Amino acid sequence: MRMMAAALLWVLVATSNNHACCANKHKSGKQSHKGGAAHASPIPSLPPPPPAASSGGGGYGGGGYGGGNNNGSTGGWLNARATWYGAPNGAGPEDNGGACGFKNVHMPPFSAMTSCGNEPIFKDGLGCGSCYQIRCVANAACSGIPETVIITDMNYYPVAPYHFDLSGTAFGAMAKDDRNDELRHAGIIDIQFKRVPCLYPGLTVTFHVEHGSNPYYLAVLVEYANGDGDVVQVDLMESLPDSGEPTGVWVPMHQSWGSIWRMDSHRALQGPFTLRITNESGGMLVADQVIPADWQPDQVYSSIVQFD
Ligand SMILES: *[C@@H]1O[C@H](CO)[C@@H](O)[C@H](O)[C@H]1NC(C)=O
Ligand SMILES: *[C@@H]1O[C@H](CO)[C@@H](O)[C@H](O)[C@H]1NC(C)=O
Repeated sequence: MRMMAAALLWVLVATSNNHACCANKHKSGKQSHKGGAAHASPIPSLPPPPPAASSGGGGYGGGGYGGGNNNGSTGGWLNARATWYGAPNGAGPEDNGGACGFKNVHMPPFSAMTSCGNEPIFKDGLGCGSCYQIRCVANAACSGIPETVIITDMNYYPVAPYHFDLSGTAFGAMAKDDRNDELRHAGIIDIQFKRVPCLYPGLTVTFHVEHGSNPYYLAVLVEYANGDGDVVQVDLMESLPDSGEPTGVWVPMHQSWGSIWRMDSHRALQGPFTLRITNESGGMLVADQVIPADWQPDQVYSSIVQFD
């Protein structure tokens, strides 16, 4: 039965011999879309969500939010199509990663409630980490109850103006009790969605220094930003070699791919590093000397800061 659903999905979604979601292509994903201004989508990018306080706990059809799109009678809900990929009860990619660079998305806080976004949602990686409520009523197995997913991967196949290629877990979560498999067997369904603030209770903004980083090349994955969830700019401040104090000079990092930001330098970068992240609403947060002078690649450095 699962094979049938998978086969159906393949036929509907695949337009080439690539996997339904683009986890294997992430390293080239950004560049390949970078020069594509001429192919600009007519679908507008989604605006950031409101501050967490005004949107409540995400009740069914809950109050509209300040995004400015499809406000009013729909309560902020927009239409999309949903598919799913990976294992039926999995997190999507087989390696539990994805085109955003997040790792272990089958574990908390992502807990496999993850999705690929198409262009207006993934935004060439700038949408990584953003949160959406999804719900469905189009299938008898649908519960209609909103579930929250986090964008951790991309899928730009032209399925619908807004397309969520969900993990098997997230797709099934839209079902009534014990009807998850039945819903997954539908393969592709109409859903409704809306952007909502992300909430990572107990977590602070976290920086993962990526494998391959060295004194001349620093790549940092940004995770667990509350609110907008996605990050639109990261700036770095080095420290003075003698005093160890911050230099006071911000240097912009460049989005490498997904939620990974990089700095290339002709001279050895001097830690500790202070990082400043800008959320989609333009708010900034400074993680003071969050990465120590003796940093190592493949290490996670948690800050003591978080968006409101
Ligand atoms: C959206 O709804 C809110 C609350 O009802 C209202 O204050 C706001 O003006 C509306 N915005 C738009 C763009 O219609
Ligand atoms: C964006 O950042 C500002 C500054 O930290 C913060 O006050 C605001 O709540 C954030 N907005 C969202 C939606 O995350």
